[in-house]
Amino acid sequence: MIQIHFSRTLMVALATAGLLFSSASIAQPDVDAARLLFDQSDCGKCHNPDKNKKAPSWKKIAKTYKGKATAEAEIIKHMTKGGKVKLDDGSEEEHKVVETKDPKALSNMAQWILSY
Ligand code: HEC
Repeated sequence: MIQIHFSRTLMVALATAGLLFSSASIAQPDVDAARLLFDQSDCGKCHNPDKNKKAPSWKKIAKTYKGKATAEAEIIKHMTKGGKVKLDDGSEEEHKVVETKDPKALSNMAQWILSY
């Protein structure tokens, strides 16, 4: 009995520690908020998260930035600065600027992209 009780307690403790650890080490993006911003900002005109359209998918972008310490900063810079980009058909268009200036929302958007 004591043995069983002890191992249960231990398991609960380990599970709790695991949860705390994972939430502290991995940034979990708020997917709903990011998707809403994606729609509001018309990003879907050129980007699809899973498939390359006129523009690279989030999958492709996430792969490019994987393991880069500056990934979030670079993505935020790209979504906020505007400027001309080349579409896959060779035409050029002004890159859309994301419809927010809230640093938290920008960070969340970048983390959502990187989560692919
Ligand atoms: C007019 C079409 C178009 C729209 C709209 C658009 N993008 Fe892009 N985006 C592109 C193209 C084309 C590229 C790839 C060319 C490049 O990186 O210069 C790109 C690249 C990117 C990259 C990768 C940059 C890099 O350094 O690899 C990110 C991140 C990005 N877009 C985010 C967004 C977000 C967020 C939105 C919505 C606010 C958005 N884009 C709207 C066309 C678009």
